[in-house]
Amino acid sequence: MLEYHFSAFLSLHRRFRRQCRARAMLALTASSAPRTAGWPVRAGQPPPCVVSVRAGGKKGKRGGAGGGALSTASSPERVDRLLSRLGYCARSEAKRWVAAGRVTMDGEPVKRADAKVVANDPRLSIDGEAPDHPNGILALMHKPAGVVCSHDPREGPSVYDLLPARWRGRNPRMETVGRLDKDTTGLLLLTDDGRLNHRLTSPKKHVPKTYEVCVDADFPPDAPAVFASGTLTLSGEAKPCLPATLRVDEASRRRATLTLVEGKYHQVKRMCESAGCVVTSLHRRSFGGMTLEGAAEPGQIRVVTKEELDRSIGDGEEGGRGDGG
Ligand code: URA
Repeated sequence: MLEYHFSAFLSLHRRFRRQCRARAMLALTASSAPRTAGWPVRAGQPPPCVVSVRAGGKKGKRGGAGGGALSTASSPERVDRLLSRLGYCARSEAKRWVAAGRVTMDGEPVKRADAKVVANDPRLSIDGEAPDHPNGILALMHKPAGVVCSHDPREGPSVYDLLPARWRGRNPRMETVGRLDKDTTGLLLLTDDGRLNHRLTSPKKHVPKTYEVCVDADFPPDAPAVFASGTLTLSGEAKPCLPATLRVDEASRRRATLTLVEGKYHQVKRMCESAGCVVTSLHRRSFGGMTLEGAAEPGQIRVVTKEELDRSIGDGEEGGRGDGG
């Protein structure tokens, strides 16, 4: 009986993962950019969606989402390193890829796995296509309920399982930008760019994040003022929450949008609890100016372009342009 339940759970879990991956593929294939090797990139050019901090970025430079951190420049690197960095194959397999002629420069097979190439070189191809986001990825996922933001398989189905296989093989690996709880749905960013991740989660950055929240009892009339006051200290915290905007639905006082400019542990749920309300559903609809447009269905994933990031996240201490929620 137990075995039956377990195998039924496993098959459900596998089906869920297949469905989510299929949706992710759908969102990616819907991109207007020409596609190569399954992912949208512009042949012969650095892909439009590239967000990079690895080369050419001047630390501290202002004017753009990542300040000087964003760049599409690239420096020479070994082919085997490039292949493993972008998730094509393990470094140990790279010789076989090269021997099979899968990596070409100007149409000619590259001869050695230790040959130096520049990832953005428009003459470089892997399996006939431009390298897959050679300078880093910023992806936006519509997180479904029931998946955790963790690499630990003991914690159950993970948002990382929903990524395309090649992205799962990238090194540095893809990491979530902050976390959403297992039961929370909505906008989740993931990137393999550690500095960008740090900038997006930095408490100094004050990026507004808007949540749609349902609770089990009416919000008290003073909740918006208390949340906005900057004096609400959650239990176990040394500092009060930064001012947050609570807009209670006039038709039902059990529904609201809440905009936070920080990300304390379980912050929405704990703030609502402090107002005597238990959260029954939670959905993040925006992060800075980024929304779920282009990833309307749970499980869908799209790439965030550098331009979208620049538009969506300011570079000042005062934070990015929210959706006004
Ligand atoms: N706050 C929470 O309580 N949970 C989330 O998933 C996100 C913010």
